[in-house]
Amino acid sequence: MLDYQTLLEKTCQHVEPFSHQGEVATYIPALAEQKKGQFAIALQTIDGKVYSAGDVSNKFTVQSVSKALTLTMALQRYGDDLWLRVGKEPSGTAFNSLTQLEFEQGKPRNPFINAGAIVTADALYSRLSAPIHAVLEKFRAQSGNSNVVINRTVANSEYQHRYRNAAMAYLMKSFGNFDNDVEKVLWSYFNYCAIEVNVIELAKTFSYLSNKGVCLQSGEQVISAKQTKQLNSLLFTSGLYDAAGDFAYRVGMPGKSGVSGTIIAVLPGQFTAAVWSPGLDSFGNSVAGIAALEYLAEYVNH
Ligand code: DON
Repeated sequence: MLDYQTLLEKTCQHVEPFSHQGEVATYIPALAEQKKGQFAIALQTIDGKVYSAGDVSNKFTVQSVSKALTLTMALQRYGDDLWLRVGKEPSGTAFNSLTQLEFEQGKPRNPFINAGAIVTADALYSRLSAPIHAVLEKFRAQSGNSNVVINRTVANSEYQHRYRNAAMAYLMKSFGNFDNDVEKVLWSYFNYCAIEVNVIELAKTFSYLSNKGVCLQSGEQVISAKQTKQLNSLLFTSGLYDAAGDFAYRVGMPGKSGVSGTIIAVLPGQFTAAVWSPGLDSFGNSVAGIAALEYLAEYVNH
């Protein structure tokens, strides 16, 4: 097998043509300013070593990848009771779809589509006195960088253009599946999405998913080994929305994507990887990011 550093450098070369493909997200105006042609990849193995290649120091907002951490924090507080309010099934619909939510009486299919993440944010809001600060501090502790910040321009831009997410939240409220003030919860959700990192910090933040629930930076048992397996299973089936099946086929690892062009992928017992490249496919997933993970997966032992 290739050593990881060589593999990541080869991955960078392999995906260069893909990094110019796709379209950057425009429905959040602040994200529309991202430039295509950029790519970065990092990986932390469970012995704590970090490997990286490409535009490694470039910062981006975590977007929907935050949903994996907020779900983790909700599971810490609610355990399986969380599933009374959000399902565990693939949705087969886009991440921001509204249709299913009405048919299914305001219970989102899974915690990774926007409706599911917003209801999870509502649950967290009920249990935390300063939820935005708590989620940011978790990112800081687990990424190993106490200077991680929230990109206020992106958070404000998302809040100003919150129409679809607000529609979902109010629909859930109408079905009785929402406890707190909708606007305040939405603001917290957008702030989680606007946390800004580079690929190394992101891979480190999610090290616990490859390490039986123990964070390699903080040493904390974040969730139990059993819950970690469960969370990885949900990432495998729903982490890439209505493209989860294609991602599972091509990459074969649990993953979570975000519209900034980032994706994390987990190989339990081996490593957590993070990639970033802003050009997105029609499902809102990074074109070069998926190509990179597909290439990486050919060389690692599943
Ligand atoms: O709420 C939104 O639409 C964004 N803050 C997050 C969506 C997202 O990242 C979807 N993933 N590919």
